[in-house]
Amino acid sequence: MNDGIRQQIRELLKQHNAVLLAHNYMRDEVQEIADITGDSLALSMEAAKTRADVIVFCGVHFMAESAAILSPDKKVLLPRPDAGCPMADMVTPAELEALKRQHPGVPVVTYVNSSAEVKAHSDICCTSANALRVVRSLKEEELIFVPDRNLGRWVAKFVPEKRFIFWEGYCPTHERMTVEAVLGKKAEHPDALFVCHPESAPEVSALADHVCSTSGMYDWCRTSPAKKFIIGTEAGILYKLRLENPGKEFILASPALICPNMKLTSLEDVLYSLQTMSPIVAVPEEIRIRAKAALDRMLAVPRD
Ligand code: 13P
Ligand code: SF4
Repeated sequence: MNDGIRQQIRELLKQHNAVLLAHNYMRDEVQEIADITGDSLALSMEAAKTRADVIVFCGVHFMAESAAILSPDKKVLLPRPDAGCPMADMVTPAELEALKRQHPGVPVVTYVNSSAEVKAHSDICCTSANALRVVRSLKEEELIFVPDRNLGRWVAKFVPEKRFIFWEGYCPTHERMTVEAVLGKKAEHPDALFVCHPESAPEVSALADHVCSTSGMYDWCRTSPAKKFIIGTEAGILYKLRLENPGKEFILASPALICPNMKLTSLEDVLYSLQTMSPIVAVPEEIRIRAKAALDRMLAVPRD
């Protein structure tokens, strides 16, 4: 049955000159059919440079919004408009403005897991892949970091010369991974390395052999001589890890590492979205221009 759906999706993508982008946490069958899979940074860069007329974004709302901000001339479709991100909802523009008033002149670094409006009230964005580079690129000693307290505190460890004002937002999926669960997996697999995402709680990151973004995990596991890895991020990452590394074993650190929002999009949703050219994600122009400035500043930070 899936073969028929896959074929119809491919035909419609061609017919509409559309590109299918999928985040590394999407269901296996969605990643399988995507033109491009990647982390938030890679997908936003792709959205900025694609020549397609339509971007079908298989991810969560803030990611499709970033695509709409960076590519205003393109139609951006989010097959499941109810796929949100609880962390992104943990800070509102009014709350951020109130914090800025308490710290006048202090620049705001905003994780891309945030609404377009919050980005519009920020100085620069970051993703988990470039957060440290973004923070280092700022000349100011003090900065406001929103909304992820765990990513913020993880970055802060590497820049002791800077003072951080943290927002206490978090990813419920990563915070469900407990120290006990990780220690249990480590005891079961003493020969495995533990790698986790910086959205994890600090006491979990402290147990890791390596902390990195989802794309960072692909690189690290591929190039590591180790044969066994305990993975501390959303379960969707296992699909490509296993595909790319047939000789290696990957164990999920906790069964709780499933983001319900990232699991919503099905092939049927993608097909329906292409058939109806909906739901469209658009950002009001006044917000888009200001949010784009924060994303552009991030994209201009040189890569190592
Ligand atoms: P990255 O792909 O940027 O590592 O993002 C993790 C995430 O939680 C996205 O929602
Ligand atoms: Fe948001 Fe966490 Fe889900 Fe990513 S994994 S979309 S940060 S809730």
